[in-house]
Formats: sequence, structure tokens, C-alpha cells
Amino acid sequence: MNIVIFGPPGAGKGTQSKFIEKKYNLIQLSTGDLLRNEIKNKTILGSKISSIINSGDLVSDEIVNNLIEKYISNKKNKQRFIFDGYPRSITQAINLDKLLEKYDQQIDIVLNLSVSFETIKKRITERKSQEQRADDNEKIAIKRFKTYELSTKPVIDYYKQSNLLKDINGENTISEINVEISGLIDAIKGWL
Ligand code: AP5
Ligand code: MG
Repeated sequence: MNIVIFGPPGAGKGTQSKFIEKKYNLIQLSTGDLLRNEIKNKTILGSKISSIINSGDLVSDEIVNNLIEKYISNKKNKQRFIFDGYPRSITQAINLDKLLEKYDQQIDIVLNLSVSFETIKKRITERKSQEQRADDNEKIAIKRFKTYELSTKPVIDYYKQSNLLKDINGENTISEINVEISGLIDAIKGWL
């Protein structure tokens, strides 16, 4: 089971990925977390990307595409991914399809969480006090949302063509969404 979890900043991608990871014994692959680890570990890549992330722009497709291949190529992880925050552009979506094909895998479902801009601002400013993420303030949240609308949202149409897309109302409570997602995953034929 490979799952893509999709949605604007603060939609609940990370929250739902952690739930799915535990319930179905899968692996959350969050490009945001991978990139923040590079910054935290003060790597060369980290020094290149920190100003981009903290301004709410996207890191280049080349950087993230390179970052994920080592995980996808690991046989132990085969067909066990929850892609959280990737793909974020059409180029990345095409790259993911190519990489999965190269390692004999495929996407089974794309979960699209939708939330209003008001909810996003509220959640991100609330999380600021818990996680101290450098990009969690209202000004950068607005920029992240604009980046999503411009570069990432078109990916929805890409997945609509392949019939993999399931829309989920991200305004519901965390547990209501847990239940809805479980129902969608359990309904996939040949799984469980
Ligand atoms: P990334 O880390 O992916 O951030 P994001 O997409 O902006 O999303 P968030 O992590 O902020 O939100 P989320 O949807 O995970 O929500 P969460 O569950 O935390 O990316 C950060 C940056 O890295 C990007 O801006 C970019 O620069 C770079 N980057 C990453 N991937 C990239 C890529 N592929 N290409 C290029 N650049 C890339 O929830 C948010 C809060 O709301 C939490 O406090 C949570 O408890 C709460 N909450 C969640 N669900 C609910 C609910 N249903 N009801 C009430 N509260 C809820
Ligand atoms: Mg996240």
C-alpha cells in the first residue's frame, strides 16, 4: 500500500500520516521533515535550503527528487509508504511515478485533505507554540498557502486522471478523519 497524502499547509497531512503509519504499519515519508532534519543537522544542503523554507517557497524539484530515491529504493520499504508533502509540483508527480515504476511499485490512493484559509491560519499560529517551526507565523503561512495554490494544487488534476484521488473534508475533527481514511484504505481490494 503506497499512499499520497495531499493538502495545503496545516491541512493535517502529518497528523493523519502518523495515525495511518501506526494503524497499518506503513512508513511516513515527509519531505518537510527530511528537509528540516538537514537544517537541524547543519548539513551543506541544510544551509542551502533554510532561507527558502523559511520564506514559504518550495525547495527545487531536483533536491527533493534526489532526497526520496534512497528511501524508495530500499527493498525493506517496498510498497509501504505514506508520501506526506510530496509530490508538490507536476514535475515531482511525474518523477514519483517514474521512481515507483523503477522499483516495481505503484500508488494505491491519493488522499486530498481540503481546509479553508481561515482554518490554516488558525492551526499554524496555534502550532507555533508547540513545535517552534521557523516557518509557522502568519506572514509565512500566507506565503506557503499562495505557493500551494500556485504550484501544488494543479497536482490534484494530475491524480484525477488516474482515478486515485479521494477528497476528504479536512475541517472535520482528527478522529472523524481517521475513521474516514480507514474506511477508504480498508476498501482497497487485495489489501488486508
Ligand atoms: P511541510 O513540512 O510539508 O509543511 P506544509 O505542507 O506547509 O504542511 P504542515 O506540515 O504545516 O501541515 P500538515 O498538513 O502536515 O498539518 P499538521 O498535521 O501538522 O513543508 C515545509 C516546507 O518544506 C515547504 O514550505 C517547502 O519549503 C519545503 N518542502 C517540503 N516538501 C517539499 C517538496 N516536496 N518540494 C519542495 N519543497 C518542499 O497539522 C497542523 C496543526 O493542526 C497541528 O497542530 C495539528 O495538531 C492540527 N490539526 C491537524 N488536523 C486537525 C483537525 N482535523 N482539527 C483540528 N486541528 C488539527
Ligand atoms: Mg506536515
